Amino acid sequence: MTNDEFVAIGIDTNDAWIRDRTGIRERHVAGPDETLTSLAATASRIAMTDAGVAASEIDAIVMATVSPDHLLPAAAVEVQAALGATRAAAFDVGAACTGWIYGVVVAEGLVATGTAETVLVIGGELLTRIVNWKDRNTCVLFGDGVGATIVKRSQKGRGVLSSYIRSDGTLAKLLWRPSGGGANPVSEATLADGSFWVQMQGREVFKHAVRSMADACDRALDGAKLSADSIDLVIPHQANTRIIEATAKHAGISMNKVYVNVDRYGNTSAASIPIALDEARRAGRITDGSTVMFVGFGAGFTWGSLVVRF
Ligand SMILES: CC(C)(COP(=O)(O)OP(=O)(O)OC[C@H]1O[C@@H](n2cnc3c(N)ncnc32)[C@H](O)[C@@H]1OP(=O)(O)O)[C@@H](O)C(=O)NCCC(=O)NCCS
Repeated sequence: MTNDEFVAIGIDTNDAWIRDRTGIRERHVAGPDETLTSLAATASRIAMTDAGVAASEIDAIVMATVSPDHLLPAAAVEVQAALGATRAAAFDVGAACTGWIYGVVVAEGLVATGTAETVLVIGGELLTRIVNWKDRNTCVLFGDGVGATIVKRSQKGRGVLSSYIRSDGTLAKLLWRPSGGGANPVSEATLADGSFWVQMQGREVFKHAVRSMADACDRALDGAKLSADSIDLVIPHQANTRIIEATAKHAGISMNKVYVNVDRYGNTSAASIPIALDEARRAGRITDGSTVMFVGFGAGFTWGSLVVRF
């Protein structure tokens, strides 16, 4: 869906505003017959084929999402059933846009403790189903998508070199869904006031995002005992090109070492980093031995980073 299509459906916005403020040109919207589960199963099968892993080998499925098909049970068990991953534990991680980074940290722990050998980590969202399509402050920013990855025991010095995850729940109301949960259940009043849709104070979120992305970069490099020069590619959460550029500048990494695809997907929350990872690999920007820094932030607030050698 292009920016102009919002104008066509009566939203008071324009292509120039969206591109100048966010860098977004278009985003994907799931079709009426598609669900988070169907997209996640498709992405997972592609990742499993790529990694040479059969469904029967998966010990755990970690699904990062804030837009599940159902509020109960976890989105991960729906994927477990769709894949026929009969041996797998399955649960969700709700860390919003930092969700895939959190998920990899959980997977790393499962593998390190010997609880699991093979973990499927998915970041997926159908955000277009939880934003208010009449609210120009949010609807133009988000998109749908899923990325899937396989985590296994590392060999020959490859794998996760450092990880860092943090949160600050005092900022929760800057980006949240005020109703629909137990504190403010679905009722005629919440349906009428639309408070179950995503609500965001964009400018405040922007400030915190820039700050937390900078912190996450510093901690990832410190943890891996690497300088910015040793990073071959940065894959940041794709929310906004201005936030990505500020992050790269802070880290002292030129933009030609930063993967950007927000222009084509919008913000897909937990899916944004694994989608970008897949594209970067297919484009040959990650090869054996590449050192990649992942950095993200999201609702919560949550933020975090990983340095991974491929
Ligand atoms: C949302 C964001 C793009 C807005 O950009 P901004 O430069 O901060 O713009 P402001 O919020 O100050 O709004 C400026 C004006 O544009 C208007 N505006 C908001 N959305 C608009 C849209 N889609 N089209 C046109 N105008 C819009 C506002 O109403 C405001 O008008 P006003 O000055 O008359 O009140 C920016 O704050 C942002 O990217 N924040 C981070 C959001 C994010 O990444 N969230 C996800 C976190 S994981």
